[in-house]
Amino acid sequence: MSLCFSFNSFTLQTPKSHQSYNKSQFTSQFIKQIQVNSVPFTSPLKPFKFRAERFNLVRASSATKPVETAVSSSFRSKNPKDINVLVVGSTGYIGKFVVKALVNRGFNVIAVAREKSGIRGKNSKEDTLNELKGANVWFSDVTNLETLEKSLQELGLPIDVVVSCLASRSGGIKDSWLIDYEATKNSLVAGKKFGASHFVLLSAICVQKPLLEFQRAKLKFEAELMEDSEITYSIVRPTAFFKSLGGQVELVKDGKPYVMFGDGKLCACKPISEQDLASFIADCVLSEDKINQVLPIGGPGKALTPLEQGEILFKLLGKEPKFLKVPIGIMDFAIGVLDFLVKIFPSLEDAAEFGKIGRYYAAESMLILDPETGEYSAEKTPSYGKDTLEEFFARVLQEGMAGQELGEQSIF
Ligand SMILES: NC(=O)c1ccc[n+]([C@@H]2O[C@H](COP(=O)([O-])OP(=O)(O)OC[C@H]3O[C@@H](n4cnc5c(N)ncnc54)[C@H](OP(=O)(O)O)[C@@H]3O)[C@@H](O)[C@H]2O)c1
Repeated sequence: MSLCFSFNSFTLQTPKSHQSYNKSQFTSQFIKQIQVNSVPFTSPLKPFKFRAERFNLVRASSATKPVETAVSSSFRSKNPKDINVLVVGSTGYIGKFVVKALVNRGFNVIAVAREKSGIRGKNSKEDTLNELKGANVWFSDVTNLETLEKSLQELGLPIDVVVSCLASRSGGIKDSWLIDYEATKNSLVAGKKFGASHFVLLSAICVQKPLLEFQRAKLKFEAELMEDSEITYSIVRPTAFFKSLGGQVELVKDGKPYVMFGDGKLCACKPISEQDLASFIADCVLSEDKINQVLPIGGPGKALTPLEQGEILFKLLGKEPKFLKVPIGIMDFAIGVLDFLVKIFPSLEDAAEFGKIGRYYAAESMLILDPETGEYSAEKTPSYGKDTLEEFFARVLQEGMAGQELGEQSIF
């Protein structure tokens, strides 16, 4: 089913096409509809309230296991070319760059991929082999433990480190559990069977406040990984990716207003580029100070609210800022309607989940959360890398969003 908002109305279309609607598209589609049909809003509903006790909040510092429990990390003393790194989720937005970063550092990279990979399976085997040049590409099925183990058996090499950049592409409830939990767990089990002693997980900073199904699936895997005494871990929890913030650039360039929720300061993040995040993830393979750590990470510079992101964009365009502020209550209304409909039509559960995801990212900051106060802190959120959102916006204004499509992406 698809959910179409226009400014003063929204319509639910029949359940048929709902597979093509996903969590990333919910907010951006919503914003596009608003940009196209902009008239003032008058329906502020009850604001969402954060209650720390509702969330099983985990402090990064307390979520670590002592390094003494680490099993053999002898691979660290080897030459990188002799270190076998298995990458699952190698064909994703971040995974591709992680493969590149690891290959550039001289590791022997084994990239697991599907025969049809990428958004909506648009890439053939040849495309994938081209994209993951320098890696030893294995076509397999991470959702099936037996198949994955058989592939690794055929590979005939021991594994030293597993890096997982897996994520559900749709963000649907079942798919999140299948990929963010089960397939990721399969890669842990199979990796260990073939000798892996370290696991690097691409997670997300938003799991600090788990209100969504994919966050619960990720947290379940994180918890099991942290408890596993046979392997060490580095859990990377990044803030927002550039692709998640670029959706309005071309619309604003075309003269549309920049749309934001509330006063434009409801949420903030420290955006990080694919290259910078991939480099941080690659650091986790060898860095001893990243062993058994939960690592929240953002890009360089200060945290940016949507209002500030819009200001950057208008400055680059040399235009007078034109903002459209939408009451967040409109999303609560839509979610309320969907939650009601799910009771009658259970097949709408994913549509309702996408609504909640859209709401979450319209209001929650992608920064370190203090579990006691429920406040986000930009200061406590570490920065890494050099690429800025301003440079990214400038590039999109010149070249468009190629390579940054949200498509079936897994978040925002
Ligand atoms: N977007 C953000 O701002 C943001 C911020 C912080 C954290 N994160 C987190 O970053 C992570 C990765 O994001 P991303 O954008 O790189 O993800 P992505 O582009 O959607 O890539 C997902 C990867 O998982 C694989 N995969 C998905 N379903 C599969 C299946 N059924 N069988 C086999 N492989 C499957 C995909 O393979 P195919 O190519 O074959 O589909 C792809 O390699 C997510 O965990 C997300 O929560 C995102």
